[in-house]
Amino acid sequence: MPKKYATLSWHDETVPISDKFDDAYYSLENGLLETNYVFLEGNNLPKRLNDGFLIAELGFGTGLNFLATCAAWNKSSKTGKFDFVSFEGYPISRPDLRKAHILFPELTEYAETLQDRWEEILEGNLVDFGFASLRVFTGDISSTLIEFNSEVDCWYLDGFAPRKNPEMWTDHILKLVALRTKNGGSFSTYTAAGHVRRSLELLGFEVIRQKGFSKKRHMIRGTKIAND
Ligand SMILES: C[S@@+](CC[C@H](N)C(=O)[O-])C[C@H]1O[C@@H](n2cnc3c(N)ncnc32)[C@H](O)[C@@H]1O
Repeated sequence: MPKKYATLSWHDETVPISDKFDDAYYSLENGLLETNYVFLEGNNLPKRLNDGFLIAELGFGTGLNFLATCAAWNKSSKTGKFDFVSFEGYPISRPDLRKAHILFPELTEYAETLQDRWEEILEGNLVDFGFASLRVFTGDISSTLIEFNSEVDCWYLDGFAPRKNPEMWTDHILKLVALRTKNGGSFSTYTAAGHVRRSLELLGFEVIRQKGFSKKRHMIRGTKIAND
C-alpha cells in the first residue's frame, strides 16, 4: 500500500483534480462520454474486444476507463474474459475513489468491486471480475513499464496533459508502448500534441488525427503497422 495517496481538489465537488499536476482526471463536462469517445470508440471497441484481449493503460486514476470498458463488455454478448493492465504512480485513496464514482451510477456494479478490492489491487494483485481481470502496476512509469513484457492489443494513453505531465509522454515511454504492441494493435489518446503524434508515427504507428471530445479540437488514434 502506498504510504501517501494523491491529494485532490474537486471541481463542483464531483470531478477530481490532481493537486500535484494541476489537471483534471477527465472531462469536467462528462468523463464517461469522453472515455467512450476517446478510448473505446478511438480503439474501435467493443467490436474488437474478445476473450483474451489485452488492454493496457497509462494512468489508472479513478479507474473510470476500466469501468467503462467493463460496461461496454457487458452490453455486448461476449463470452470469456478481457484483461486490463494499468500503470499508476500516485494512487488515490479509497474514499476519493468512492467519491469520484458517485457521478457515474451506471457503473456502480463494477465500481463497488473496484472499491472493495482497492487495497489488493494496489498491492499489485491480479483481481478477477469474472468477465475481466485487472492488474495495476504501481510506481513511476519509468520503472514499471520496463518490467512489463506482454503484447498488448490496445492502449489507452491517459497521462495528464503532456505539458503538465511530460514524464508520461517521453520518447522512451512511447517507445516501450510501441514495443509492447502487437502488430495491428492500437492506441488512442485525448491529446493531439505534435511531439506525441510524431513520436508514435516514427515508432511504427499509422496515426490519425480526428475531432476531439466536446470542445477539444483534436485527438489522435493509431494502429501499429506490421514491419515484417
Ligand atoms: C488523466 S489521469 C488518468 C485518469 C484515469 N485513466 C481515469 O480513468 O480516472 C493521469 C494519471 O497518470 C498518473 N501519473 C502521472 N505521472 C505518472 C508517472 N510518472 N508514473 C505513473 N503514473 C503517473 C496520475 O497519477 C494519474 O492518475
